[in-house]
Amino acid sequence: MKKILITGTSSGIGNFLGKELWKYHTVYWVSRKESLLDIQEFLWDINDENFVHHISESIDTVDYVILNAGVWYFDRFENISLDKHREIIQTNLLSNIIFTHIFSKKITGWIIFIWSISSKKSGKFWASYSASKFWLRGFAMNLKNESKLGIHIINPKVVKTNFHHHSKIEIQGKFQETPIGDILNTVADIIEGKEKRFEIDL
Ligand SMILES: NC(=O)c1ccc[n+]([C@@H]2O[C@H](COP(=O)([O-])OP(=O)(O)OC[C@H]3O[C@@H](n4cnc5c(N)ncnc54)[C@H](OP(=O)(O)O)[C@@H]3O)[C@@H](O)[C@H]2O)c1
Repeated sequence: MKKILITGTSSGIGNFLGKELWKYHTVYWVSRKESLLDIQEFLWDINDENFVHHISESIDTVDYVILNAGVWYFDRFENISLDKHREIIQTNLLSNIIFTHIFSKKITGWIIFIWSISSKKSGKFWASYSASKFWLRGFAMNLKNESKLGIHIINPKVVKTNFHHHSKIEIQGKFQETPIGDILNTVADIIEGKEKRFEIDL
């Protein structure tokens, strides 16, 4: 049984991973919404730096951290407000760097980043989202060269979650999809030591 902290567990990939991994492991549930599960949870806006300190003081050590929380708004660049561009960069990029900086001493094993295929490919209608994932990919690629922590990046294609409810433009059917179960299987393989690759495209 491992100790696993997951961010962004209120819905989608994080919610699915949290509930499935909780069957076999101790899960620390990091979300802005209550889980209604009998689980140790931290109700947290990941952009609140003080709360990262609070989590760090509350938890002794964890084996794995899955940094999953993220936002996107899929629309023409000029239609997305400046506040939303800021939110994307703050949430997807800065909060993960700040979390890693404050919390890394508590991690005994691995950080798993739930990234996106958009961290490697250009598209349209997701310029600042894609930028946030490109930057974060650069962060992880460099961190792995200097850190004792194990680091993995998982890059799904489109996954059917609430993520697309923010989209003004229909995305379903336009891109290849990744079944959410493939992400769980990859995380399980990492935990069991079967998956060693730094970056896993799904
Ligand atoms: N769905 C896809 O097609 C897809 C494809 C590739 C990669 N991804 C990546 O997968 C990750 C999860 O996405 P998803 O598809 O599961 O979307 P989702 O259902 O919208 O889940 C996103 C999660 O992030 C949380 N979150 C966002 N901003 C937060 C904040 N400031 N503080 C705390 N939690 C916050 C949300 O919490 P609230 O409910 O409180 O907002 C929610 O739990 C993202 O990093 C995304 O980039 C998704």
